[in-house]
Amino acid sequence: MTDTVDEVELPYDEDASQQEKIEALQERLEILEAQNEEMRDKLLDANAENNKYQQKLERLTHENKKLKQSPLFVATVQELTDEGVIIKQHGNNQEALTEVTEEMREDIEPDDRVAVNNSLSIVKSLDDETDVRARVMQVDSSPDVTYSDIGGIADQIEEVRETVEMPLENPGMFEDVGITPPSGVLLHGPPGTGKTMLAKAVANQTDATFIKMAGSELVHKFIGEGAKLVRDLFELARQHEPAVIFIDEIDAIAAKRTESKTSGDAEVQRTMMQLLSEMDGFEDRGEIRIIAATNRFDMLDRAILRPGRFDRLIEVPKPDEAGREQIFKIHTRDMSVDDDIDYAALAEMADDASGADIKAICTEAGMFAIRDDRTDVTMSDFENAYEKIQDEEEDEDVSKTFA
Ligand SMILES: Nc1ncnc2c1ncn2[C@@H]1O[C@H](COP(=O)(O)OP(=O)(O)O)[C@@H](O)[C@H]1O
Ligand SMILES: [Mg+2]
Repeated sequence: MTDTVDEVELPYDEDASQQEKIEALQERLEILEAQNEEMRDKLLDANAENNKYQQKLERLTHENKKLKQSPLFVATVQELTDEGVIIKQHGNNQEALTEVTEEMREDIEPDDRVAVNNSLSIVKSLDDETDVRARVMQVDSSPDVTYSDIGGIADQIEEVRETVEMPLENPGMFEDVGITPPSGVLLHGPPGTGKTMLAKAVANQTDATFIKMAGSELVHKFIGEGAKLVRDLFELARQHEPAVIFIDEIDAIAAKRTESKTSGDAEVQRTMMQLLSEMDGFEDRGEIRIIAATNRFDMLDRAILRPGRFDRLIEVPKPDEAGREQIFKIHTRDMSVDDDIDYAALAEMADDASGADIKAICTEAGMFAIRDDRTDVTMSDFENAYEKIQDEEEDEDVSKTFA
């Protein structure tokens, strides 16, 4: 902006004649007038446009307010049709046809996750962040395993209850005694010994929010995604204190660099670093406990075992003979078996079997009875089942050797 005429650059040289000066000024005046005209037109246009947007804003604000009043449900967009948008609600899987505003329509495409209100109008489309959260939330449902379903590892059950369940249920007791309850336990041992089961039983027993995540679910292709998921996981736990975070098969993200299949995968490393830093920040994190499980203790990066991370390492071994007997009894509880089943003999026979193996033997024994058109499972069904499973395992070992 020019305030005074002095600052205007004159359109003629100092030494031009009077006549030339006037002509030049006149020419300049004409140009300025034309420009002025043009600007006024533009201003009018802009004003009109502004009015239009103002109206649209009002309409949308109103609509937004209306939509946000009721609780929202999550749905997935199936199809955009001329009649409206077909959505499928999560939870009951019902499809519905719903209308959307022009603006919303441009925003969504099939497979998008959206929030809908009571009358199934789409309120907003959910971005990735909500998506990750929702995925974590989904695994939150309490499984129906109880401690009495687990055989042969009474000591381990006791230890887990003492370190996870008790501090959550009775935090005052630890305060009174003046000790900090352990923040994390790591269950390790051969596959099929009941580690996952044990964590599920804890979930069932405690009122705390139980958040389960498999290590493999934390492994992602995209940079930063795994670490973000770990952050979300702990954030979610903080929001739902008291909470238990269960990371099954933690070796997927916490394997030694040299032995990891994904070794050199910087993304997996970053995910683990994030996990470590979340665990280190635990003390001021309130009532959050972490349970992790692995079949590959030997493979774990020692960093995760440093003090202050997992305070308790609980080995869950294969069951001994008495344990096997107990597990046979557990898995035949709901089966129709002969009266003369000798559980001690079964336990002796299934030498070296894990809990999962015993379950497989029981199921297979049932199959023998079915094939024979009987409803009662006999001792010899169990023996045949054991033979069969042994043979299958040998075949597998052989094929592995030649693979
Ligand atoms: N100690 C056990 N008592 C009873 N059943 C068991 C036991 N261990 C394993 N099982 C059976 O094997 C299945 C797999 O066990 P799981 O807990 O997944 O083993 P893992 O130690 O590999 O996590 C269980 O669902 C259960 O049927
Ligand atoms: Mg498991």
